[in-house]
Amino acid sequence: MTAIPMTSAPCGPLTGVAEVPGDKSISHRSLILGALAVGETRITGLLEGEDVLDTAHAMRAFGAEVIDHGGGSWSVHGVGVGGFAEPDQVINCGNSGTGVRLIMGAMATSPISATFTGDASLNGRPMARVTDPLALFGTQSVGRDGGRLPMTIVGAADPVPVHYTVPMPSAQVKSAVLLAGLNAPGQTVVIEREATRDHTERMLAGFGAEITVEQSDEGRVITLTGRPELRPQDIAVPRDPSSAAFPVCAALLVPGSDVLVPGIGLNPTRAGLFTTLREMGADLTYENERTEGGEPVADLRARFSPDMKGIEVPPARAASMIDEYPVLSVVAANATGVTMMAGVKELRVKESDRIAAMADGLRACGVNVEDGDDWWSVTGMGPGNVPGGATCVSHLDHRIAMAFMILGMAAQKPVSLDDGNPIATSFPIFEPLMASLGAQLRRDTQ
Ligand code: S3P
Repeated sequence: MTAIPMTSAPCGPLTGVAEVPGDKSISHRSLILGALAVGETRITGLLEGEDVLDTAHAMRAFGAEVIDHGGGSWSVHGVGVGGFAEPDQVINCGNSGTGVRLIMGAMATSPISATFTGDASLNGRPMARVTDPLALFGTQSVGRDGGRLPMTIVGAADPVPVHYTVPMPSAQVKSAVLLAGLNAPGQTVVIEREATRDHTERMLAGFGAEITVEQSDEGRVITLTGRPELRPQDIAVPRDPSSAAFPVCAALLVPGSDVLVPGIGLNPTRAGLFTTLREMGADLTYENERTEGGEPVADLRARFSPDMKGIEVPPARAASMIDEYPVLSVVAANATGVTMMAGVKELRVKESDRIAAMADGLRACGVNVEDGDDWWSVTGMGPGNVPGGATCVSHLDHRIAMAFMILGMAAQKPVSLDDGNPIATSFPIFEPLMASLGAQLRRDTQ
């Protein structure tokens, strides 16, 4: 694919309404659970980013009928738990760790095989974290060295239920095990020591599965009874807090800004960034708080906040804001004092090593960043004092690309990016939406 070099120049106040797209995590799960239900699931507000479109293609390959009705409205005619057909093509999940890991789980306890691949980023990411627990069901897998894609999964013909403690805070691993447990007889138990996003649990309950969640000394204990008949649902996908993070943070950093970001999902397992920003002194309010489709939702209002201070972000909050550390580091660079982010080892195995990617670009733009295996710290330079003026590298990572574009909006000199292509995986309207608020983004010719 041809690179799209981009530049974000310092801009005047950002104002207006930022309608960000649907939640990526919920969009993937809507398609996958829709495919495992019997009958027609209708979805509105689906994120039509590349990651989710790859999952839609995959569900078709496993036999579900997935129809795009336009404008974010989709329907899925599911084949039922255990009803997946064997795909006759390699399943390409593109850039999406969520897509591949959840789909592996969903097919792992059916008597079919499937081969998965992705882009250079996804093919470098660890899959053993999913195939290890899937092996307990009786699933086999053959991949490249280090448990990497491309990989073939041979589903268990006669699966047994499992009892599994997830060793790292990962909603993808938890969800893969739960989805595999759907077609195992008896009860599958998943324990997570730290709570991660709980969309899979909420949605399984919504589709009619028997699922309970209890808090014990070991952590959250999730018990799922296998072989339910999932009932199709009407799902209204809330807007993505991880995408909202970009216009929100931009508004906090650019003098004179006042931006409304309506209808944002504020599930507590996702909203850690907003809590952190408020602790730093951000003028960020929640308006019109309500519940939509079983998820808490509010309109976010963000205004320029010149008095933000660096803080120590509690490690216990990491899972609830894991995708937001890149853009938080941009806010931290414009705050006063040091922001310390610890307990974030998982950032090293995302679409890129997000600590390394952000540290390199921030340093190139004149910001002092220190980092270790599972922590990093950013020394704030005060509002508007980041020099900027460098070209940063996106490393096939949408959130890194967008974070650097936000950095440029509040820096002294423009910030450039080697390649803006990855943005389309999660936030395809990022450029026109930010431009409509007043951002100065341009695509550079090579
Ligand atoms: C996701 C879980 C997180 C997150 C990813 C989406 C999900 O990954 O980073 O963007 O939808 O389950 P991990 O489970 O690897 O932490």
